Amino acid sequence: MQEPFETPVLTAGDSLVLRPAELDDAERFLNLAAANIERLSHALGVWDPPKTVEDRRKLMAEDLKSVQNGDRHWWMIESEGQLAGTIDIHRIYYRVRQGFVGYWLGAAFTGRGIMTRSLQAVIDWAFTERKLIRIEIQSSIENRASCAVPERLGIRRESIRRQSHIVKDQTLDMASYAAFANNWPPEPPEKTTTDKNDLSRRRDSAATSHRI
Ligand SMILES: CC(C)(COP(=O)(O)OP(=O)(O)OC[C@H]1O[C@@H](n2cnc3c(N)ncnc32)[C@H](O)[C@@H]1OP(=O)(O)O)[C@@H](O)C(=O)NCCC(=O)NCCS
Repeated sequence: MQEPFETPVLTAGDSLVLRPAELDDAERFLNLAAANIERLSHALGVWDPPKTVEDRRKLMAEDLKSVQNGDRHWWMIESEGQLAGTIDIHRIYYRVRQGFVGYWLGAAFTGRGIMTRSLQAVIDWAFTERKLIRIEIQSSIENRASCAVPERLGIRRESIRRQSHIVKDQTLDMASYAAFANNWPPEPPEKTTTDKNDLSRRRDSAATSHRI
C-alpha cells in the first residue's frame, strides 16, 4: 500500500471552499441530506440513510476509513460559509493512477455553477498535485444536470455502460466521462482521417448534385 495522501483545502473562486470531510460534519451533513432526500435517493439510490446524528457519525467514521487508507479524497463544499454539498474522488487505484468522482448539492445551491467550479478544482488538484492520470465520472444518461457538469468543462463522454447500475429495481444506462492529465483542460478532438475523407466525399457528392 502507498502512503496516504493528505486531502487539502481547495478554493474555487471567492466564496467557494472545498474542505476535507471530518467526523464533526456529521450533523450538518445529515441535515442537508435529509432536506434533499427525495432527489438524492432518486439520483444516487440512497434509500435508507441514517436518521440520527449518532448513526450518521458511525457511518461517517466508516466512510472516513477509506480516506485514511488513501483510497479516497472527500470534501464538503462550502458556499459563503454554508454547507452546499459534497464531492469526492473514490476508488483510487494507485498502480494505474486513476479514480472516480461523485458529487451532489442541496437544491438551494444548484443553478449557480458551484459543482462545475468544484469539479474543476478537484481535477486540477488531482492531476497537478496528486498525479493521477485519469478521472472518470459516471452518471445516468437520464440525469441531464449531472451529465452537464463534466460537459461544461469540455470533458468528453467516453462510453455508455448499458444497464450497469440499479436504483430501486430500475436498471440505468450510465454515461462515462473521462478527463486526462495529458489533455487538461481538454482540447477539442482533432479531425480523424475518416472525418476528413467523409467531408471530401460529402463535398464531391454536393458537387455532383449541383451538376445534375
Ligand atoms: C448534479 C448536480 C450537482 C448539478 O447541479 P447544477 O446546479 O446543475 O450544477 P452547477 O453547480 O455546476 O451549476 C450549473 C448551473 O448554474 C449555471 N451557472 C451560473 N453560473 C455559473 C458558472 N459560473 N459556471 C457554470 N455554470 C453556472 C449554469 O448555467 C447551470 O444552470 P442551467 O442548468 O440552468 O444551465 C445537482 O443536480 C445534484 O445534486 N443532483 C442530485 C445528485 C446527483 O445527481 N449527483 C450526481 C450523480 S452521478
